[in-house]
Amino acid sequence: MNTPKRKFSVIGCGRVGICLAAFLFKKNYEPAGFFSKSKTSAQAARTAAGCGTVFDTAADCARAGDIIFITTPDGIIEGICGDLVQQNALGPKTMVFHLSGAHSSEILAQATQAGAVVGSIHPLQSFAPYEPGQASPFEGINISVEGDPDAVSQGKDIAATLGAQAFAIPTESKTLYHASAVVASNYLVTLVKFALTLLMETGLREDVAFEILSPLIQGTLSNIGSRGCTRALTGPVARGDHETVSRHLADIDKKLPQFSALYRLLGTHTLDIAAAGNCLSEEAEKILSQFFKTV
Ligand SMILES: NC(=O)c1ccc[n+]([C@@H]2O[C@H](COP(=O)([O-])OP(=O)(O)OC[C@H]3O[C@@H](n4cnc5c(N)ncnc54)[C@H](OP(=O)(O)O)[C@@H]3O)[C@@H](O)[C@H]2O)c1
Repeated sequence: MNTPKRKFSVIGCGRVGICLAAFLFKKNYEPAGFFSKSKTSAQAARTAAGCGTVFDTAADCARAGDIIFITTPDGIIEGICGDLVQQNALGPKTMVFHLSGAHSSEILAQATQAGAVVGSIHPLQSFAPYEPGQASPFEGINISVEGDPDAVSQGKDIAATLGAQAFAIPTESKTLYHASAVVASNYLVTLVKFALTLLMETGLREDVAFEILSPLIQGTLSNIGSRGCTRALTGPVARGDHETVSRHLADIDKKLPQFSALYRLLGTHTLDIAAAGNCLSEEAEKILSQFFKTV
């Protein structure tokens, strides 16, 4: 039996909105309406989709769809949702999604009060401006989904249609989920920059330093994947080699004191992982713990 196509509207036709227009036009989903601050952006989404209507107002755009994606900047999603409710643009079965990682579906509460079904879908991907003919940035990625049960189930279907894997998270965990993504992506950059800066002290350029460390970084990621964090941990902390750690600390304190606190803080957390592996002697753990405490 064929499932009826669900019409969708996009409000906010930027990087993510245009990609939805371009790549969700398949199987069960049909682009119906586009609205953006500028008509040029809405028209670009319409062109990427190959069908649908460019509307003059967000409310008319919403009325054209069974599913509304609000893909504006995060700070105005709630206000746009409120405007749609005020203008009676949402039917009782309309589904409203936003795609922000930083907010949960709770910012769509006004739509809930108006009887709509709400959810958030967050693609773990960095979107560049859309270019005609480009590959889908959704293909093979992971997408979190949360919200009303019907929205979660629809969100999983949307993710599958986009060629992505969906996973559901509780609404109250959205902030920690987003913090996790920030640590995994942004703070990894900070960590790599720290390692590069230490290596650059030997006189190497940053690009050369990265070439040198890259296989080590990739190998570590691969070990985490195959063995888990505790068993993937190697090096002086895991071995309880406090003499080596002591020399690191002395040199960093002398030559790059701006990193002293960071090295110690990371050491403290690394020591926790090493201790969980049960391979450290009590004495080594105690000495290392003292080293990492001193500033
Ligand atoms: N970019 C990413 O990598 C990424 C990844 C995951 C999730 N997200 C989420 O996806 C959402 C959209 O992000 P984005 O990167 O696509 O942002 P973006 O490229 O800045 O696009 C936002 C669009 O919203 C439009 N807009 C601004 N104010 C509006 C208003 N009052 N009414 C209607 N449209 C308005 C802008 O329109 P005009 O062009 O017409 O001025 C712009 O094209 C955000 O919630 C973001 O957190 C982004």
